[in-house]
Amino acid sequence: MDTMTLRDEIDALSQEIEAADLPSADEIEAFRIRTLGRKSGAITALFGRITEVEPSERGKTGQALNALKQQAEARIELAQAALTSSDGAERTDLDLTLPGRVPAPVEPGSLHPLTQTLEEIKGIFRHFGFDVAEGPEIEDDWHNFTALNFPPEHPARDMQDTLFVEPPPPDGRGIVMRTHTSPAQIRIMEQQAPPIRVIVPGRVYRNEAISYKSYCLFHQIEGLVVDEHATFADLKEMLHVFAQALFGDDVKMRFRPSFFPFTEPSAEVDIWWADETIEGGGRWMEILGCGMVDPNVLEAVDIDPERYTGYAWGMGVERMAMLKYGVDDIRLFYENDTRFLKQF
Ligand code: DAH
Repeated sequence: MDTMTLRDEIDALSQEIEAADLPSADEIEAFRIRTLGRKSGAITALFGRITEVEPSERGKTGQALNALKQQAEARIELAQAALTSSDGAERTDLDLTLPGRVPAPVEPGSLHPLTQTLEEIKGIFRHFGFDVAEGPEIEDDWHNFTALNFPPEHPARDMQDTLFVEPPPPDGRGIVMRTHTSPAQIRIMEQQAPPIRVIVPGRVYRNEAISYKSYCLFHQIEGLVVDEHATFADLKEMLHVFAQALFGDDVKMRFRPSFFPFTEPSAEVDIWWADETIEGGGRWMEILGCGMVDPNVLEAVDIDPERYTGYAWGMGVERMAMLKYGVDDIRLFYENDTRFLKQF
């Protein structure tokens, strides 16, 4: 019978593991098979001999064997780590421009569908010779409402719609998150004399119930032209050419009489959305509001309404993107779900 006890063998193997020299992948693999291999590994064999030990000693011996197994595993890990870290330093054929390895492929990002839509619309108007301007998202009552000819008791000023940064004092006016991009019209006309041809993209905020069709935050693009002979016919023509550029040459559009405090006359514009699955083969979808700048608005910014006329419009970017890409829930644009975003 072997003179060494199982405990002695465990100790001897432990020292051997500690001293093992493992400079290459082949040697690491041979070491793994020699110690931990299922069939002939030394540690595996020692586990099989646990019955040689007094039953009262088996618990302790089992623990010692487990420790030995962990020691061997740690030794392998260390040797592997040493191998990979020395790898890069010694190799001269390292190509740092190679793409990463599967299973961790590099996923390229993409522009958000709203950004894409915004850029496309901006591109169309730049092509028509428009400037692109911006305005603040926090506005005072004057720019957001008063100068735009909103009467003092107009419902749009109401707490229901407007998000207030500073609520209005009993006898005064508040500071608001702009409810539309139209206040930028006022800021531009305050600073610049006609002729004016400008679009203003940006975020707007409304305290609305969130649903598939409305969100507390969305984007608009405001358009403004002020000149000596700007007419409603010019407005119609320009918006028609715009719709053709965005939706295709055979786009069908219609102007419906409407009302906005800051334009007179005012209209809403619909485009025909063909859809064979619904009765009538499609339906009219509203894309923007527009009109001739109300003389009161020109007077509020010291532009002579006897000499100048203007037209303006405001369109919803989400609405355009939903039509263009067939998205049926506005909230998808704000959830940052990559399964949605990846499709654009
Ligand atoms: N500001 C309007 C809104 O948010 C949209 C709008 C309508 C803008 C007509 C305009 C316009 O410039 O002429 O609903």
